[in-house]
This record gives sequence, structure tokens and C-alpha cells, in this order.
Amino acid sequence: MFDWVFGTPSAFLWLEVFHVLGFSLWVGSIFILDLKLLGLIKRAPFYRYHLVPWAYLGLGLVLLTGFLFVAGDPYYLENPALQIKLGLVVAAGVFVMVFHQRLVDTQLDAASDAPVPAIAKVAAATSLILWLGVLIMARMIPYQY
Ligand code: HEM
Repeated sequence: MFDWVFGTPSAFLWLEVFHVLGFSLWVGSIFILDLKLLGLIKRAPFYRYHLVPWAYLGLGLVLLTGFLFVAGDPYYLENPALQIKLGLVVAAGVFVMVFHQRLVDTQLDAASDAPVPAIAKVAAATSLILWLGVLIMARMIPYQY
């Protein structure tokens, strides 16, 4: 059913393009919000709700193309870098859904120069480290065969 992924010329290329576009929107949005929380982006006139639609468009793209990579070549699942990456994706995803949203919402939508409590900064730093780990492990996938 998924032979076309690696059987059709350029199919894999376009899946990679949309995988990169997807994680750029998803991780990019999270990084910008985390950097704002950490006070590294100051007086930025945007709030979380501006980025959420783009972030979830990205998440949809990256999950769909990621699934197609693995459906097209199940051997990927034996790749240690992909295994660690998927573990980090789940951990980072749960963190975003449970902690980030609860801890960060009110802060991000407050006036941009409102003091950010330490716990929200810890949440932002943890989120940054987890998604950075995903990107590093992902980049290692082609080198693990
Ligand atoms: C939000 C989650 C995700 C992020 C941030 C992400 C990020 C990345 C990045 C940065 C790359 C390297 C792209 C390159 O430079 O060539 C990559 C490749 C890859 N990703 Fe993901 N990814 C995510 C989810 C997934 C999922 C859910 C799967 C599978 C179920 C997956 C499977 C793959 C595979 C197989 C490759 C290697 C493709 C190749 O051979 O070059 N990804 N991903």
C-alpha cells in the first residue's frame, strides 16, 4: 500500500519537504513562545493564540509525513536515533499539552512586560531542551544505519 513512498520518483523528496515545513511551523512556534517567556524576546506584540493555528498545521504535517516515511520503509523503526526521537516527541508532546499550556497560557497572554514566574520559565526551558533533543536525534537518523 505504501510502496509509492520510496517507489515513486520524488515522492520521498516531497514528503521530506513537508516534514521539514511541518516541524518548522510546530517547533518554530513553540521556540518563539518559550523565548518570549524566558525574556529573550521582549515586547513582542504577539500572543500564543496568534501562533496556535500555524503550530497545529505544522504538527499535522509532520505527523502525517513521519507516518508515511515509516509506512514506506518499516525498517526505519529499527533505527536507534528514530526510536529515541519518537520517545522525545511523546515526552515533549505530553509536556506541551499538560504543563506548557497550563503554566504558560496566562503568562503569554498577559501584558508583554508582566513579570514571568520562575515556574513558567522552567517550563519554557524544559520545552526548549526537549524539542532541541528531537531535532538533534532526528538529524542523526540517516547516520545510524
Ligand atoms: C513534532 C515531531 C517531529 C519533529 C520535530 C521531527 C523532526 C525531524 C527532523 C528535523 C528530521 C531531519 C530532516 C532532515 O534534515 O533531513 C526528521 C527526519 C525524519 N523523521 Fe521526523 N519529526 C517529527 C515527527 C516524526 C514522526 C512522528 C515520525 C515517524 C512516525 C518521524 C520520522 C522521521 C524519519 C523516518 C526521518 C528521516 C527521514 C530521512 O531518512 O532523511 N518524524 N524529522
